[in-house]
Amino acid sequence: MTKQIKILDTTLRDGEQAPGCSMNLEEKLRVARQLETLGVDVIEAGFAVSSQGDFEAVKSIAQTVKNCTVASLARSVKTDIDAAYEAVRTATSPRIHLFIATSPIHMKHKLKRSPAEVLTTAIEMTKYAKSLVSDVEFSCEDATRSERTFMAEVLREVIKAGATTVNIPDTVGYTTPSEMADLITWLKANVEGIDTVDVSVHCHNDLGLAAANTLAGVHAGATQIECAVNGIGERAGNAALEELVMALATRPDFYNATTQIDTTQIYRTSRLVYSLIGQTVPLNKPIVGTNAFLHESGIHQHGVLEERSTYEIMTPESVGVHQSNMVLGKHSGRHAFETRLAELGYTLAPEELNEHFETFKQICDKKKTVSDSDLEAIVESRAPVNTAHYLLENFDVRSGKETTAVSLISLSSNGQTLEEASMGDGPIDASYNAIDKIMNMEANELINYSINSTSDGKDALGEVVVKLRNGEKLATGRGLSTDIIESSILAYLNAANKLLDVG
Ligand code: KIV
Ligand code: ZN
Repeated sequence: MTKQIKILDTTLRDGEQAPGCSMNLEEKLRVARQLETLGVDVIEAGFAVSSQGDFEAVKSIAQTVKNCTVASLARSVKTDIDAAYEAVRTATSPRIHLFIATSPIHMKHKLKRSPAEVLTTAIEMTKYAKSLVSDVEFSCEDATRSERTFMAEVLREVIKAGATTVNIPDTVGYTTPSEMADLITWLKANVEGIDTVDVSVHCHNDLGLAAANTLAGVHAGATQIECAVNGIGERAGNAALEELVMALATRPDFYNATTQIDTTQIYRTSRLVYSLIGQTVPLNKPIVGTNAFLHESGIHQHGVLEERSTYEIMTPESVGVHQSNMVLGKHSGRHAFETRLAELGYTLAPEELNEHFETFKQICDKKKTVSDSDLEAIVESRAPVNTAHYLLENFDVRSGKETTAVSLISLSSNGQTLEEASMGDGPIDASYNAIDKIMNMEANELINYSINSTSDGKDALGEVVVKLRNGEKLATGRGLSTDIIESSILAYLNAANKLLDVG
C-alpha cells in the first residue's frame, strides 16, 4: 500500500531563524496562508518563547489557519512549553514540538547534564506538554551523533509519556543517506511502541545531503518529513520542501509514498518566500529555478520536441510553471495582460489589475517585450495603495569616479511635495539618506539589498529587493524599473512605507 507521508513545514521557524530570512507578522501570515493552500500537514509557526514577535506570530497563525496542524517549538523546560501552549492553544489542531539534545557532545558541552538527567527531563517535560495538548512531537537534537541505545531509551520513554511523533534530526548535516536509512530501520526495530507514533526526519544541508538523507529516511519507514520552502534554514538550510515533494511524486515506483501537497502550488509558494525574504531564485535551483525546465542544447531541444519525457522527468505545469508562446508588449491589451496573469496564477481585484496594467504600459514604453518574469515582478513589486504614504515624484543623482555622490529626492505625501538632498557612498546610499531625512527615519538600517534583472537584454527590468529594520520592525520592499537607481529608490520607499504602517 502507498504510504502517506506528512509534511511538517518549518519555513517559519528553522527557516525564518536563518540570517537574512526574517519576516514580519504580516509576511509570516501570508506564508502560512500559502502553506495551507499548498496542503502541508503541519506548519511549525515559530519558537514562541524566543521573542514577543515569535509568540505573536505563532498565535496569529494558530488563529488563522484551519486546515493544518500548527506547532510551536519548545525546549524541554516548563516556561518554553507554557509559551508554546499559550501561542498554539486556539489552533484547530495544536501541537507542541519539544526537543532536547541526546548526543554526548551536546549533553556535555551545551547542556552540561548527564544522560540520566536528560532522560528524566525528556520524560517529565513530555508528560507536562501532554497535559496541555494531545499532539506532542519530541525531537532528539543531534540524533545522528547520538548513541543509538541511549536514544532508543529516550524515545521509548517519551512515547510512553505521550509523544505522538518522534523526530530524528540531523542537526548539523553530518549523516549520509545509507546511515540515515540504517538508523531509522534500527530504531523501528528496537524502540518499543515506535509503531504507534509517527517517525519523523529533519535534515540540515551542510554537506548538500539534506534531501537525500530525508528521502533515505522515508525509504526506511519515516512517516513525517520536516522541510522548508526553498530549503531555507540554519546555516546551509533545511531539506527543501519542493525537492522532497517532487522526488516522492516523480518516483512512486521507488518510494511507494505520497503526500497531500498540491504540487501546482509549489512555484507560487517558492516565489512568495523568496520575495518576502528579499532573495532572488538561483537560476539552477531544482524545481523552482528559471533554468529547471529550460533545454538549451540542440540535442536536448530536439528530444523534447519529439517527446517531452526524453529530457523531462516532471512537467513544469505539475509544479505550477506555465510556459507560454504569447509575447506581451506595447500592443497587448488589458485582456491579454489579464489572461496571462491568470495563467501565471494571479487572480486580482479590478483595481489591482488597473494599477498593474498602468505599470505594464509604462514599462512597454521603455522595453520591447514583457516576459513572464517581468510580469511576476510587476505584480510582486506593487506597493499596496494603503501603504503608499510617500510617493516618488522625482530624483536627480550625480555620481562619478572623483565626485562624492549626491542625490536630490522629491517625494509627495498628502498632496505636498517634500524635497531633500543628501550625499552618500554612491548614488543609492545618497538617495536612501535623502529619503530617510524626508521621512524622518534616520534609524532605518538596510539589512539586505539585492538586484536582479528579470529578463535578458540591455533594456531588461532591474528588480531591487531591500530589507529594512527600524528597531524591532522589519519590512521588505521591491522596486522595478529599467533604471536601476529608480528601482533602488522605489524598493527603499516601498519598505519604508511598510515600516510606517507597522506603527
Ligand atoms: O535541527 C534541529 O535539530 C532542530 C530541532 C530543534 C528539531 O531544528
Ligand atoms: Zn533544524
